[in-house]
Parts: sequence; C-alpha cells; structure tokens
Amino acid sequence: MKAEILLHIHMAMFSVAVMLCSCESITNLHPVILIPGSGGNQLEARLTPKYKPSSLLCNRWYPIIKDSEGWFRLWFDPTILLGPFTKCFNERMMIYYDIVKDDYDNAPGVETRVPHFGSTWALRYLDPHLKHITSYMEPLIESLEEIGYVDGKNLFGAPYDFRYGLAAAGHASHVASKFLTQLKNLIETASNSNEGKPIILLSHSLGGLFVHQLLIRNPVSWRQKYIKHFIALSTPWGGTVDELLTFASGNTLGVPLVNPLFVREEQRSCSSNLWLMPSPKVFNTTKPLVITPNASYSAKDIARFLEDIGFPEGVQPYKSRILPLVENLVAPEVPITCIIGGNINTPETLFYGDCGFDKSPEVVDGDGDGTVNTISLLAAENAWANEKNQPVKVIKLPGVSHTSILKDNLALEEIIGEICSINSQFSSSLALRT
Ligand SMILES: *[C@@H]1O[C@H](CO)[C@@H](O)[C@H](O)[C@H]1NC(C)=O
Ligand SMILES: *[C@@H]1O[C@H](CO)[C@@H](O)[C@H](O)[C@H]1NC(C)=O
Repeated sequence: MKAEILLHIHMAMFSVAVMLCSCESITNLHPVILIPGSGGNQLEARLTPKYKPSSLLCNRWYPIIKDSEGWFRLWFDPTILLGPFTKCFNERMMIYYDIVKDDYDNAPGVETRVPHFGSTWALRYLDPHLKHITSYMEPLIESLEEIGYVDGKNLFGAPYDFRYGLAAAGHASHVASKFLTQLKNLIETASNSNEGKPIILLSHSLGGLFVHQLLIRNPVSWRQKYIKHFIALSTPWGGTVDELLTFASGNTLGVPLVNPLFVREEQRSCSSNLWLMPSPKVFNTTKPLVITPNASYSAKDIARFLEDIGFPEGVQPYKSRILPLVENLVAPEVPITCIIGGNINTPETLFYGDCGFDKSPEVVDGDGDGTVNTISLLAAENAWANEKNQPVKVIKLPGVSHTSILKDNLALEEIIGEICSINSQFSSSLALRT
C-alpha cells in the first residue's frame, strides 16, 4: 500500500523532476558508483600448471586467444555456449568450500581477476567484441553521460567476482571481503576527488546486497560523510524462488542451447547463489515453495532441500554462513530508493514429479520481475517501515523485468529522474545556506 501511494506521489512529481533535469543547470553532480549484479561484469582467468583439465578439449590451449601473460576472458565468452566447452567453462568457474579454512577458493590451477575496477568498462558489455548482444549497463551509462556524468571523473564502476558471496560475522570470505574494502576505498577516493561531495551508490540486483553489507559494516559517521543516497535496482532482499530451481535443476538463464544440468554443478558451487536462497525472514514459512511426491519445502526448510536435491555439501555453509547473514535486515540509515519491476510472471512454487530433481519442474508463477518475487523486492521497505532514521522510497515499474530495468526507456527515465532530483536537493539546500 505504502509503495503504491509513493508511486502516485512520484508520478505527480515526475514532470517537475524532468524539467529540473535536463541537468545542464546542475554542474556539481554528486559522483555515482555503479555496482552490478551477478554475472554483470567481465571476469578474467589464467591457468597455471596445477590446473588439471577433465578432458583433452579443456586443456590449457582453450581458449586460443590469451594475452601475453596467459589471461583470457572467462566471463563472458560465447564459445561456452557450445556443449563441450560449457564443461570446460564449468570446471574453471567452480569454486570450492574448504571446511577447515571455512572459506571458498577457486579450482586448483585457476587464477581469476576482475578487470577495470573503478571504471565502467567492465560493466558496459560482458564481451567487448559482441557489444550488442552482451550489452549490460551500457544504456544506463549512456543515459548518465547525457546528463553530464563522465567515466573516471564523477562516474565509476565497481565490478567484482560475483561467484563469491559474503558470510555472516565470524566466517571468512576473503574474496568478497576484499571487494568491500576496494569499494570502500573507491567511495572515499571518488568523494575526495569531487570536492568531498558524498556519493550516490547505484546498484543492480545482487550488487544491492553487497552495498547493504558495506553500509552496515561501517560506522554511521562514515556513512554520513560519504554516502548521499543509495539507489537499489531490482534488489532481491530476501532471495528468490528461482534460486531453488537453479540449485535443483540448473538454470541456463534463457540461453537455449545449454543443458541446464551442465551448469548446475558450477551454479551450486557459487557462494553468492547460496546467499540468494529464499529467506525465512521474508517468505511465508508456512507456504511450500517446492512440492514433490515425497515432501514439501518452505523457506525454513532450505537445509533439508539442499540435502534432498543431492547437494549435502551446501548444508553446513548455508546454516553457518548464510542464515545468520540474512536473518536481520539491518537498516543502513542512509536515504534509499528502491526501483523495482513487477507484474511479470515469476516462479513462486515448483512442482517436481516422480522423476526427481533432475527433470525441470512444473512452475506456478506469482508476481515479481520475472526473476525476483515481489515479496523479496519489497522486503527492505517492509522491514524498515517503522525505522525513524531509514527513509525508503519505492518506485514500481509495472511490466519492467529484472534486467530490462537497465535498458527500458521508461525505466531509464525514472532512474535518471531520481539521480537528478537527488542532485538538485543538494543544489537547493546549498542555495538556502548561501
Ligand atoms: C502464509 O501461507 C499460508 C499457507 O499458504 C496461508 O494460509 C497464510 O495466509 C499465509 N500468511 C500470510 C501472512 O500471507
Ligand atoms: C521420491 O522418492 C523416491 C523413492 O525414494 C525417489 O525415487 C524419487 O526420486 C523421489 N522424488 C523426489 C522428487 O525427491
């Protein structure tokens, strides 16, 4: 209800925002840092002699194109869509949980790195040679450039190794923690090089969960000094039912030629995917999300679900590292705008038959953005409705999907409108003071 009211208010004010915001009048833009979603930036790899390929085909010659130091683009490379190479991709993308270290690592002999940290270049396209079909944040970045943002000056990108999620306090997650440190440094540097102006953080999907953790892991005084606003696009605050489907049966993300079972092992291995399991704090725990002839599972039965689908290795990390992480949606106490899609069929209940979990289930849809269920998209707003120090505004875009939010013209207008209105808040308060 509250969200709908906000939507109406927003609609009424929108024409004003657009007028303010040919944005030429605003010369002192707050720096923007973009934080992508899972799979939303390039990832590079290099194979060392320790790498043991599962087949001749996956030997170290593949892929042929590498730089002089042996680095190649692991994500995204179109040859992975071809069956035999999907397998090579898979074994290089897998990460492994080490029970003794209580942390995850790459496969032996696979080194990875994230190119272009700080710049928007790793997020514009996933493969710069196939700009059109692998375009990710390019339309959004172009819209930002139209209102005066310049890459490297007041516009920055924070790509990361999206296979690795964070863990609850007391558990190591060296890759994801390093990313939070890099992001924190980027925020400080970007602010310092823009006359100390605080930053607008603009995230998509999983990126929003990282931003949320960064904020609550730093002191309020730091947030007040450095953060102007947090705009969270399509954030799965409480996970998704779609993730259950990914873990049970694999998910090709709509790529037609790939057998989902080929990618399932890799998808199960990613700790960031475990982070996106439906949260028992957000989903109705008396409502089954998965139903089989033998059992049913709600959001409080994820551990049993992992066991039953044949992924018992996931149970302990889920219980110790993920559950306590998602248990409490702490308010970060910076102004937040959630921009979300909706009115699109989104998996809500999965029915598996006698053939077990390897066969794709019958899916009953509910409301959401096609990937994330509405209850999860709205979870932050619902959790913080009574928090005095937590302003949350929700902008709903019916018919806009989880990823079209980065491309759809109406969605881009809304996002840019919001950025302009945040920037003009600054100008007007400055005008009042002087
Ligand atoms: C939770 O789900 C159960 C079973 O589907 C339903 O009866 C109940 O009304 C739901 N509770 C809420 C708060 O939606
Ligand atoms: C249900 O149990 C039967 C017998 O143990 C098993 O063969 C089947 O795979 C199970 N189905 C699911 C979906 O778990």
